[in-house]
Amino acid sequence: MEKTIEWIKTSDTTGYSRMIDQTIIPYEYKKVDIKTVSDMYDAIKTMIVRGAPAIGIAGAHGVVLSAIENAEESDFIEKVKKQAQYINSSRPTAVNLNWAIQKQLDLIEENKEKENKEIIKLLTENAIKMEDEDIEINKKIGEYGATIIPKGATIQTHCNAGALATVAWGTALGVVRSAYEKDKTIKVFADETRPRGQGARLTTYELTRDGIDTTLITDGMGAHFMKKGMIDVVITGADRIALNGDSANKIGTYMLAIAAKYHNIPFYIAAPKSTIDSSIKTGDEIVIELRNKEEVTIVNDKPICTDKVNVINPSFDVTPAELITGIITEYGIFKPDEIYKLFEDK
Ligand code: MRU
Repeated sequence: MEKTIEWIKTSDTTGYSRMIDQTIIPYEYKKVDIKTVSDMYDAIKTMIVRGAPAIGIAGAHGVVLSAIENAEESDFIEKVKKQAQYINSSRPTAVNLNWAIQKQLDLIEENKEKENKEIIKLLTENAIKMEDEDIEINKKIGEYGATIIPKGATIQTHCNAGALATVAWGTALGVVRSAYEKDKTIKVFADETRPRGQGARLTTYELTRDGIDTTLITDGMGAHFMKKGMIDVVITGADRIALNGDSANKIGTYMLAIAAKYHNIPFYIAAPKSTIDSSIKTGDEIVIELRNKEEVTIVNDKPICTDKVNVINPSFDVTPAELITGIITEYGIFKPDEIYKLFEDK
């Protein structure tokens, strides 16, 4: 299975991050090598790599790059911590970024008496382990999720929570893939996902490559097809889930969940435990990333509106727990108000 993002190890203490450039799909399919902390910051910010689990791995790689860059410095640990903070600031909503960076920083703390080279080796091993674990986790999410997909179902999804948003397989699309292994008659309705078009550009690319029957719709069409009885279940990913089950995901997800509730269609979130932020009680505490207005006003390098108009571009919204039927994790499927149980006795 090809990895969306992977560490290319050139020795125990050297290497770089290789990732699929998601800004050019579907026009081109190309990988880029990220060799510096500053390039990693830009790769996350400009969404060469995107999707909560994938940017988590990018963060873990970023810490290794920082350690390599600072290997000869006397204040090695302070410098790496500072750069880790910088990488973490590239995108604020997906908690997986902070989670993965913190795992690397914890490892440094546990081994701070060791030589810098030894720490770099450990960070590298840990980053590669996290990549492989991400695939295993997604497979488990897929297996649990497939149990709720009726035979021949049409699944609506939003944004891209697929192989491209993770190391491989995907979360919401991992469920689709696992269901498809058992039932070749399932279908997907993919929302376009304005303004960055992850649904149109990435989800349809991934699913049609796998031979899965996929229909592209614009973001405003969901309720129409629900009313016509053409959607059986909605599954999306998440960028951050609060302890009460409120879930942040790509802007437009909330609207979809409201429409699903109105039409009595089950609405599921598929996400790993690392997407749950146990430090926050409700979705009100989730920081929503605001992105630049050009993402909305420029299409194909041309403005689509007057420059006199106000524009606001929040990248995510928060779906309240009461609209969510279940959260599909690698530990099973939870009612949103039971998700906190994953953190009990820990
Ligand atoms: O802005 P993006 O493309 O990084 O947003 C991605 C999403 O909203 C995904 O649905 C989410 O990260 C889950 S990915 C498995």
